[in-house]
Amino acid sequence: QTIYLSEYKVPAYLVEQIELRFELFEDGARVHSTLTVRRNPESQETGKPLELDGDSLKLESVALNGETLESTAYEDRGDKLVVPDVPEQFQLAVVTWIEPQNNTRLEGLYKSSGMFCTQCEAEGFRCITYYPDRPDVMARFRTRIEADKSAYPVLLSNGNPVEQGDLDNGRHFVTWEDPFPKPSYLFALVAGDLVEKRDSFTTCSGRDIDLRMYVEPRNSEKCDFAMDSLKRAMRWDEEVYGREYDLDIFMIVAVDDFNMGAMENKGLNIFNSSCVLASQETATDAIFQRIEAIVAHEYFHNWSGNRVTCRDWFQLSLKEGFTVFRDAQFSADEGSPTVKRIEDATLLRTAQFAEDAGPMAHPVRPASYIEIGNFYTLTIYEKGEEVVRMIHNLLGSEMFRKGSDLYFERHDGQAVTTDDFVKAMEDASGRDLTQFRLWYEQAGTPVLNVEDDFDAEQGVYRLTIRQTVPDTPGQTNKKPQHIPFALGLLDSNGDALPLNMDAAETDAPTERVLEITGAEHRFEFYGLDEKPVPSLLRDFSAPVRVHYPWAREQLLFLMSHDPDGFNRWDAGQRLAIDVIQSLIGHDDETEIEPRLVESYRGLLNNDSLDQALVAKMLQLPSENYLVELSEQADVPSIHHARERVLLHLANALRDDLLACYQRNNQAGEYELTSDAIARRSLKNIALGWLLHIGDEEALALATEQFQNADNMTDRLGALRALVNSGFDQERTEALDAFYEQFQHDPQVVEMWFSVQSASHKTGQLPHIRHLLGHEAFDWKNPNKVRSVVGAFAGQNLPAFHNPDGSGYEFLAEVICRLDDSNPQIAARLVTPLSRWKKFAPTYSEQMKKALESIRDKEALSKDVYEVVHKSLAD
Ligand code: ARG
Ligand code: ZN
Repeated sequence: QTIYLSEYKVPAYLVEQIELRFELFEDGARVHSTLTVRRNPESQETGKPLELDGDSLKLESVALNGETLESTAYEDRGDKLVVPDVPEQFQLAVVTWIEPQNNTRLEGLYKSSGMFCTQCEAEGFRCITYYPDRPDVMARFRTRIEADKSAYPVLLSNGNPVEQGDLDNGRHFVTWEDPFPKPSYLFALVAGDLVEKRDSFTTCSGRDIDLRMYVEPRNSEKCDFAMDSLKRAMRWDEEVYGREYDLDIFMIVAVDDFNMGAMENKGLNIFNSSCVLASQETATDAIFQRIEAIVAHEYFHNWSGNRVTCRDWFQLSLKEGFTVFRDAQFSADEGSPTVKRIEDATLLRTAQFAEDAGPMAHPVRPASYIEIGNFYTLTIYEKGEEVVRMIHNLLGSEMFRKGSDLYFERHDGQAVTTDDFVKAMEDASGRDLTQFRLWYEQAGTPVLNVEDDFDAEQGVYRLTIRQTVPDTPGQTNKKPQHIPFALGLLDSNGDALPLNMDAAETDAPTERVLEITGAEHRFEFYGLDEKPVPSLLRDFSAPVRVHYPWAREQLLFLMSHDPDGFNRWDAGQRLAIDVIQSLIGHDDETEIEPRLVESYRGLLNNDSLDQALVAKMLQLPSENYLVELSEQADVPSIHHARERVLLHLANALRDDLLACYQRNNQAGEYELTSDAIARRSLKNIALGWLLHIGDEEALALATEQFQNADNMTDRLGALRALVNSGFDQERTEALDAFYEQFQHDPQVVEMWFSVQSASHKTGQLPHIRHLLGHEAFDWKNPNKVRSVVGAFAGQNLPAFHNPDGSGYEFLAEVICRLDDSNPQIAARLVTPLSRWKKFAPTYSEQMKKALESIRDKEALSKDVYEVVHKSLAD
């Protein structure tokens, strides 16, 4: 049941037009589909029967060119409808019966808090009707929706509304037509009792676009920020990529039950409520930023994904990697570029490097899969983004823009491959990206080992850089990749040195992007008086690991002198990691590097540095990252060492932290500016540290902030600080008060769940089980599962890795339970267990057992089967 890229064949039949009619009822839905089909002249498979994909459908009838077919004239295999005898061109009418109200997988057509909605990517359309459900079959859709008028006054689909009216029995209908041919994964339908928020946007060519958001009435006050983000994204895409919106209407719908973040259906984006709805009182700054990024991401897909789509699902990163790159550029332009880069690099190094080093490692363009739902990964999205970013950096902005213009022009209306994308970049720029293509083909994170030496007599500084690409499952002996490596050199005053690479050169630049292409390179820099401090891989110019024998002195120096903000932060992280690692396995008498405290003191009192960067620099590397960096991880020791450093810093810096809190706690109007966000972030970090050491004065501040905050960032910041403190009574009181106040807001309740589940103070297994029995918990809602189980297994490392193995058994039990109702969500939860080889034997053996218990479950879904079997393979 493995599907291989090498077996790709063009479709034997093409669909020109599909006419859909949905009759929506409470006990099910009847779907009438009429396809206008012709043989694909480009297909070699002449005489091949017509095969349509299906999943969980009840077939009611099939008609060919208007004639109902006898059941002997076709074969209903459940997952395929086969019609052997068809002419060159024909119309096929298929009627199916489905049960959206019982659809707990949330793929295809389903119900979420009373409304009908769809999720068709990647293969959900086949749960609606029989269809060639593959992205290289592109058709024009016309969709008529019929439903009870009072329960479902709003009826939406892709494109423009062309007809509407009343029917008998209190029912009504609306017909939508989408003029752009599209793959079935971009189909969407919504029916519900929703309020409409309207706005408009005038495009660069002067067309007026109707912008509409549809939400449940209780959310009507939470739409403004998403609408504003949308308009800013539309303008940005015109200015930066020359991309104008193409339909007359653009709609966004919020639904509570959703497997992922959001979906870019043509003209009708559907969002997980938690990724689109926000207000000052209910959303944190981080959520506002996430909404801005996701609204932009889905909107940008209209060109990178919809107008130019994927030939097959192996090409998923064609649209995702490029679109994540586009939304990251947008976020950087709207906020702090350095902070955005730090956040993205942190996610990549913590989670994607782990994926690339684990049993599910796969290239940005995978060569095979069992269940495509398992390949919506950090590798496809985030590493895919980095690959596009490297092309951008190698070509420069101007050539990159020429390349993207050529790509959109050349492939508009087509379903293409990552190779077509690279080819457009090559053709526009004249650069040869042959070796660069290995980034799409080879899995694994390249490692760069850097050595240096200084020849004082000649004034020459030499860097030797060796690259290796590690083996991954099914891929060994890899070739060297093409790596853009940005660097600078600093003298002992912290001044940037000219990078003179040719003895005769004058006016050399102070930063260069070296291109690493071989297994070993040697670079020489001339005209130096002293050994410089190297600043390597600036701005994280490639998704690689860099090893260099840093001295703590050098890191401290870079932390305060590197002109590259990213590398300042990175130096601080490397120093903190070195300090924490040196304590692991040592007793509590071991001295903690005194210079660490002093550097943090400097940061806390540094007003001249971007305060958002200061806030990032103050955060210690996460336990997850420390695990990723270790072999045979022992979580309690890692947790203990990190905790020691945190307590040590907080105790030593107590007065500075208080001052930092006070300075950033100035009263005034709530604002959502970068500066205000940075101040809230700094203030809440300080508060958290102070409560961690049980400071009574800070307790009073936290209580006051918790009760009187006029925004969720501060309220939740105080709650989190209290939850992670040793003040048991105040914690309980705050948690109760918070729930009392926000129990009617599902998104806030989700934060309330995850604050507890992710905390090693509250998130022990008995309490997790208690949360699962809470009135607000719902197994059918993915956000709730993520906020309790996901936060526990993914973030609460000391509790999940309880040496008695109870955390693993619990997760296995949850996965088995969810496998029956929602396999996509179940499969995602396997991730923490799949990393079992990373841990010390006492842990890894029990993790493996938990995986085996899942493997032995009856009727395991394809989704979970694939992840568990790959995890257990050697
Ligand atoms: N294309 C969507 C996005 O990146 C993700 C939807 C994936 N859905 C899924 N069920 N696999 O915005
Ligand atoms: Zn996407």
